[in-house]
Amino acid sequence: ELTYFNGEFVEPGAKCVSLDDRGYCFGDGVYEVTRVFNGRCFAFSYHQDRLYRSMRFMDIPVKMPPEDLQELHEIMIEQSGITDGYIYLQITRGVEPRHHAYDRAKLEPTMYMYIRPIKEDLSKLGDGVKAISLPDERWHHVDIKTLNLIPNILAQTKAEKKFAYSAVLFRDGICTEGATSNVFAVKDGILYTHPADELILKGITRQLVVTRVAPTAGVSLIEKEFDREFVDNADELFFTDTIGGIIPIIKLDRQPVGNGNVGPVTMKLRDGYEKLLA
Ligand code: PDD
Repeated sequence: ELTYFNGEFVEPGAKCVSLDDRGYCFGDGVYEVTRVFNGRCFAFSYHQDRLYRSMRFMDIPVKMPPEDLQELHEIMIEQSGITDGYIYLQITRGVEPRHHAYDRAKLEPTMYMYIRPIKEDLSKLGDGVKAISLPDERWHHVDIKTLNLIPNILAQTKAEKKFAYSAVLFRDGICTEGATSNVFAVKDGILYTHPADELILKGITRQLVVTRVAPTAGVSLIEKEFDREFVDNADELFFTDTIGGIIPIIKLDRQPVGNGNVGPVTMKLRDGYEKLLA
């Protein structure tokens, strides 16, 4: 484990954040989670683009140019010696006495990063997981990867209390995404997922499945809204996220998805994604 804070490496858990940091008081900041695999940042440029997009939307000035950000990621991998893990990066708006409105000119963003190894056996996820459904109670700009994750943490906690891996969220009857992931459904061999508008996070794993993995596997894909009934009649369902990759859902609200086993399309896509990762 290696931790970075505002220009230097610090002890993990070091107390260096001001109590007046807007990230601490308001959750006023953005973040990224990037997978480190075989000693390299997987799909780094995608994460970088999304980070800068989030910062533009939030009106947080970019202090570190893309080349330096990439170099910092590489240094963290090298210095930590971690070859299989992930990097968490968080940038908050900065420090000032609590006041809702911010003065961009007076603020210096706070940057926190760490690299940690992945200890759990992720291959087990390939056997499929249980999920529950919950209402999507988030704001209307979840395409921005902000630190304000209250509805997500409440949903994820509810799911884990029910021994489920995560929650599938529904807004006005439409399946949007997961509490910490995107959601795909398979019906009659065709792959469906919610369009990448402001009601879902445009996940990098989702993007790679849409643009690379599904086309290579010869699986047709439709980005469109689908409802609860469609989900209940789906042959296969899966989550996607940076850490777990493609995660088959074999039970939703105690009902088996399809025949209750990991389906052939999900398996094919998991194989394709693994090839991309390696
Ligand atoms: N979560 N949707 C939500 C709400 C998410 O929080 C995430 C990722 C995704 C998937 O995005 P990606 O494929 O880029 O990881 C979708 C990260 C891992 C987290 O919050 O820790």
